[in-house]
Amino acid sequence: NEGSLWGGRFAGGPADALAALSKSTDFDWRLARYDIAGSRAHARVLHAAGLLDEQELSGMLRALDRLEADVVSGAYVAAESDEDVHGSLERGLIERAGPGLGGKLRAGRSRNDQIATLGRMFLRDHARLIAAGLVDTVDALIGQAEAHPYAPMPGRTHLQHAQPVLLSHHLLAHAWAFVRDLQRFVDWDRRAAVSPYGSGALAGSSLGLDPNAVAADLGFDSAAWNSIDGTASRDVYAEFAWVASMTGVDLSRISEEIIFWATKEASFVTLDDAYSTGSSIMPQKKNPDVAELARGKAGRLIGDLTGLLATLKGLPLAYNRDLQEDKEPVFDAADTLELLLPAVSGMIATLRFNTERMAELAPQGFALATDIAEWLVRQGVPFREAHELSGEAVKVAESRGVELWDLSDDDYSAISPHLTPEVRTVLSTEGSLNSRSSQGGTAPEAVQAQLAELQQQLAPL
Ligand code: ARG
Repeated sequence: NEGSLWGGRFAGGPADALAALSKSTDFDWRLARYDIAGSRAHARVLHAAGLLDEQELSGMLRALDRLEADVVSGAYVAAESDEDVHGSLERGLIERAGPGLGGKLRAGRSRNDQIATLGRMFLRDHARLIAAGLVDTVDALIGQAEAHPYAPMPGRTHLQHAQPVLLSHHLLAHAWAFVRDLQRFVDWDRRAAVSPYGSGALAGSSLGLDPNAVAADLGFDSAAWNSIDGTASRDVYAEFAWVASMTGVDLSRISEEIIFWATKEASFVTLDDAYSTGSSIMPQKKNPDVAELARGKAGRLIGDLTGLLATLKGLPLAYNRDLQEDKEPVFDAADTLELLLPAVSGMIATLRFNTERMAELAPQGFALATDIAEWLVRQGVPFREAHELSGEAVKVAESRGVELWDLSDDDYSAISPHLTPEVRTVLSTEGSLNSRSSQGGTAPEAVQAQLAELQQQLAPL
């Protein structure tokens, strides 16, 4: 069978059940162009080592070009009998170059170093696509922050009103998380930029081939320094899956907020029609399905990561066939994020905020109590006592069903002589926001400085 790369020592062909189990072309075919790129690079080092003459090299490269064109056009596809992408493409090469020339290419390489290299090439390309989607997501958040520089909203802890914050500050909090995800993909790429090609089955090659020439040809920074590590390690895949999971979790966090903001009860945002869905029975429904799918797919991404880690756990050196299971989780992680990011960034960019309602709610629920306590501290009152006095004011207001600014000057002075009428200067959303002006705070000028820093960190990514 030409699609198989082994067989000499076997008495007969594999059982149908084994062939079916073993076959990976259903999912590894998407590595075909990387496999062909690897074959070109490999042909060149065979030539440099004197194992292919000039004419053989050009014949080989021509056949690989034709094979690639046929793969791209769909004229060449994996046959039912092909075990994997490597075996299938060797068959295709031999069909085009003849067995005399085509049969020479496999010298000095193994599917073990090939597959480890092709996976990295695939992931490095897809990390760049994902990074572009992350940049769009950060840009959408920055766009909304810039469109609402002074709009206040209720800042929450434990989902309870805590202190007023600027909407722009809140949106940029999500942007920072995505900038770190971007930085992680960029940093990951440095570790992924090491090529296992040349590691052979596990011990390297005796044929005098230059692994660094192959590495450079395929866009890597260098070749692996340990052939066993080169063929057997998949931590770079697992790290990719982790960064993808973290990105999914960050997408899920903002999505959960948008789902809440879009409820009748919150009424903070209206979703654009293009990013909402309807109900098959309830005509009035407008559902935040993009955000819900993002929340749901975070679970899928975490599953990809944990499934891969479980596969890797306990594998002895060097290559084991278990490693064939490494591809689907990382392919799925990449596909999932590439599907998700344009939808989430589009949803964010088109959100319409009900800034009036958010501003009205911002100081409610005694969200200015900390401002009273900190005002007292500025008057020289120890914070422990200030906290108690502000708490008293909350108790009085709550018992009357009013807010802190509804209490009279007499109410305040009855709580403590420290609570003079000047306390009113901090009993407004604006006063509260403006006072938090140190780095990282929610005051408008601090948020401006934050945005400038964010954009500076984003620029090189
Ligand atoms: N299809 C295999 C994989 O995905 C390629 C390597 C197979 N190597 C082997 N010795 N059977 O891992």
